[in-house]
Amino acid sequence: MKVLHIDSSILGTASVSRQLSQAIVEQLQAKHDNVQVEYLDLAAQPIPHLTAEILMGQNAEQAALGEQIIQQYLAADVVVVGAAMYNFGLASTLKAWIDRISVAGKTFKYTENGPVGLAGNKQVYIASSRGGVYGDNSPADFQEGFLKTVFNFTGVEQVDVVRAEGVNMGEELKNKAIEAALAQVKLI
Ligand SMILES: Cc1cc2nc3c(=O)[nH]c(=O)nc-3n(C[C@H](O)[C@H](O)[C@H](O)COP(=O)(O)O)c2cc1C
Repeated sequence: MKVLHIDSSILGTASVSRQLSQAIVEQLQAKHDNVQVEYLDLAAQPIPHLTAEILMGQNAEQAALGEQIIQQYLAADVVVVGAAMYNFGLASTLKAWIDRISVAGKTFKYTENGPVGLAGNKQVYIASSRGGVYGDNSPADFQEGFLKTVFNFTGVEQVDVVRAEGVNMGEELKNKAIEAALAQVKLI
């Protein structure tokens, strides 16, 4: 089983989403034989933002990197994404990764009947952390909802969220939220 593990929090060892994404990967390793993990730390090694030059294929180095990122995504059986909520959305480094995997003809195609995803047959886990409490369908959520839309768009139907929220609302709430999320991980 190929697992692509991605972290994007800027908070290093204090990060909640990193703690959760790591726990998910460890759970997969405990449950399955032969788990091969590839790891992207987008905070430590950000992928350059998409530019017109990159989009038009005029930068050979970036074209090669973009292809590598797409192939890595396509090859993964499971993608585990550590996604902190920053300003209601994602870390910009995670958006930069999304801009590189969302490529027509590679991970989706346009047809007469609309877009069709080409990267199905994988499971995505979103390890979500949020300072406030939003629940499942908040209009202020441009983090989990956005990620689900992007993964669905590339054909991935199985997108599950492990969430710790309210982590900036006092130590007690934070600890409870993390405990509940880690209990959820044990059910994976
Ligand atoms: C730059 C920044 C922006 C944030 N914006 C929000 C926000 O819009 N809504 C929210 O509920 N929490 C917000 N928070 C709190 C984080 O979501 C919370 O600290 C969460 O644990 C971040 O994930 P991490 O610990 O993996 O970095 C923000 C934190 C930072 C550092």
